[in-house]
Amino acid sequence: MNSCIAVRDGQKFIFTRIGDEKQKVKKQDQLKEILTDSEFTMKGSCAISLLLTKLDIVNTILMIESGRSVIQQKTGRLKSYDSVCKKLEKKGLEPDFNIALEKINDLIGVRAICAYVDDIYKVAALIERQKDIRIIKTKDYIREPKKSGYQSLHLILEAAISFQSETQWIKIELQLRTAAMDYWASLDHQLRYKRGRKEAQLIDEELQQCAAMISSLDQKMLKIRKKIDKI
Ligand code: GTP
Ligand code: MG
Repeated sequence: MNSCIAVRDGQKFIFTRIGDEKQKVKKQDQLKEILTDSEFTMKGSCAISLLLTKLDIVNTILMIESGRSVIQQKTGRLKSYDSVCKKLEKKGLEPDFNIALEKINDLIGVRAICAYVDDIYKVAALIERQKDIRIIKTKDYIREPKKSGYQSLHLILEAAISFQSETQWIKIELQLRTAAMDYWASLDHQLRYKRGRKEAQLIDEELQQCAAMISSLDQKMLKIRKKIDKI
């Protein structure tokens, strides 16, 4: 059978076979189910709690060394179904759970805000040393900021979680950044949705300038702290 139907693909309609379309809808429903209420979400929540606790321990170790709290704030979240769909579409991928699991690093995400830039690397080093954590990839957008100006240290890692007799390695994206980097990223994120096409380039340039200011502010604060450390 060669029956076709027209389906929307972005702004235009394309013709596709009914069988293919049914299969796609089935996969999309399955993706929604897994990302909203399933074993994956429950295990994902456990993975978040585990990493948040690890960060508490790392903060305690560094606090004993430095006499101050190094991690100022930390949060974790499971990516919503809608934003998983958006990201898959942006990357030109099918709405399929196994594809999402492989290609989207931040289905499970944790973010920690550190006081100073050097704290970020100290936290990362201690996280890397944990026996039940293995690092898959490190993306250092502090040493090499993104074209947008975005800065943060990303650790794509797997954490071992023991569920009864089996141990499962669960992928998590850990974003480490300073409060200044976080301020820039959250405003950039908001503005991204509101940018008109006409002004886009000018706004991009202005945001890049702000990112550079933030970077020099972070460096200045670090220098001051190092001076005080010596007293
Ligand atoms: P996406 O960029 O999200 O499609 O993922 P990716 O696989 O290309 O990885 P990348 O390291 O580029 O981005 C991962 C995450 O970092 C994103 O989901 C955002 O949370 C954050 N991020 C990356 N670039 C920017 C940026 O320019 N602005 C902001 N605000 N956040 C960014
Ligand atoms: Mg990207």
